Amino acid sequence: QAGIPSVKDVVTEFPVGAAITGAEITTVHGDLLAKHFSSVTPGNALKWDATEPAENSFTYAQADPLIAFAEAHAMAVRGHTLVWHNQTPAWVFQDANGATMTATAENKALLLARLENHIRNVAAHYGDTIGTWDVANEVIDESQSDGLRRSSWYTITGLDYLRTAFRVAREVAPHATLCINDYNTNVATKRDALFNLVVKLKGEGVPIDCVGHQMHVNVNWPSIADTEAMLRKFEGIGVEQQITEMDVSIYTGSGESFPAPPADRLLAQAYVYRDMFALFRRYRADLTSVTLWGLADDNTWLDTYPVARKDAPLLFDTRLQAKSAYWGVVDPSKIG
Ligand code: G3I
Repeated sequence: QAGIPSVKDVVTEFPVGAAITGAEITTVHGDLLAKHFSSVTPGNALKWDATEPAENSFTYAQADPLIAFAEAHAMAVRGHTLVWHNQTPAWVFQDANGATMTATAENKALLLARLENHIRNVAAHYGDTIGTWDVANEVIDESQSDGLRRSSWYTITGLDYLRTAFRVAREVAPHATLCINDYNTNVATKRDALFNLVVKLKGEGVPIDCVGHQMHVNVNWPSIADTEAMLRKFEGIGVEQQITEMDVSIYTGSGESFPAPPADRLLAQAYVYRDMFALFRRYRADLTSVTLWGLADDNTWLDTYPVARKDAPLLFDTRLQAKSAYWGVVDPSKIG
C-alpha cells in the first residue's frame, strides 16, 4: 500500500498521533508509523512503574528508544503520564515502615515529596523533547458528589497532589503543554465534574493548559452531538483540547465476541471515524491534536479488555493494511 495517502498529509489541521509500546518502531511497523503519523505517545513506557520502579531509581530503557524514533522522524511526543492511580508501584503508597499509607500529615508530606521527585526526574530527563504532558490521568469519578476519584492520591493529599504535579511540571518543563486527561468526557456528568475541577484549579493559578479527552468509543457510542458537546463545554476557559487515546471498538457490549471482525461492524466503524474526524477538523478553535491509542489492530489493549477477545479498533488491520476506517479518515468516498 505504498501508494495510499498519508494520514498526516490529509489531516493537516492538527498533529495526528498514535500510541506505541515498542514493536511499532521496528521495520514495517516503523515505516507505517512514520508515514502516517506526526506525533507519538508512549503507551506504557513513561508510566511510573516503568520509569521509577523502586524509589529514586529511575530508568528510561523502555521510553528512550520510542522517543529517539520520534525525534529522528520529527514527530511530536505526548508524555503519558506523570500521576495516575494505575501502574504506580506499591512502594509509592507505603509509609516509612513499609505499611500501606493512611491519611496522616506525615504520609501526605512523604507522598507529595515522592511525587515532586518523580516529576522532577522524569520531566527533566526529556526537557523540551516532550512537548505535551498528560500530567494527571483519570482523576474524576462522577459517582462521587464532588466528582473526585477516591484514589490513594486523593485520600492522602486531597487536591494537593494535582497542585504539586502541575506546579512542578511547569517548573521543570516550562515550554510543555500540561494536560489533565480523562475518559468518558462525552458523558455530561463526567465532563461537568472535570470542567468544575479545571475551573477551580485554574482559578487558583494551577498551570493547566489542556484538557485531554481519551475517546475510547465504539461503533454505536457516543453520538457525534455528545462528542461536540464535550468539546464545546471547555471552550473559552483558557485551555487547549486534545483527543488523546481514540479507538473505535467493534463491540457494543462485553457479552459479544467475534472470531474475526464482521464486515458490517468494520463498515460502521469507518463511518464513526469519518464523522468524528469531520467534527474534529470542523471544530478547530482549540483542538490541538488527535491521537489514536495504537498503530494497527495487531497491538491493541482492547484484545484483553474488558475480556479477552479479538477487537479491531484502529485504522490498519493486523497485517498493517489500510481498513475502511482509514478511508473514513482519509477519503470517505472510498469506504467499503
Ligand atoms: O509489563 C508486564 C509484563 O512484564 C508481563 O509479562 C505482562 C503479562 O500480562 O504484563 C505486562 O504489563 C502489562 C502492560 O500493559 C504492558 O504490556 C499489563 O499487564 C497491562 O495491564 C498493561 O495494560 C495497559 C493498561 O493501560 C494498564 O493500565 C495497556 O497496555 C495500555 O494501553 C493502557 O492504557 C490506558 C491509558 O494509560 C490510560 N487510559 C486508558 C488506557 C487503556 O486502558
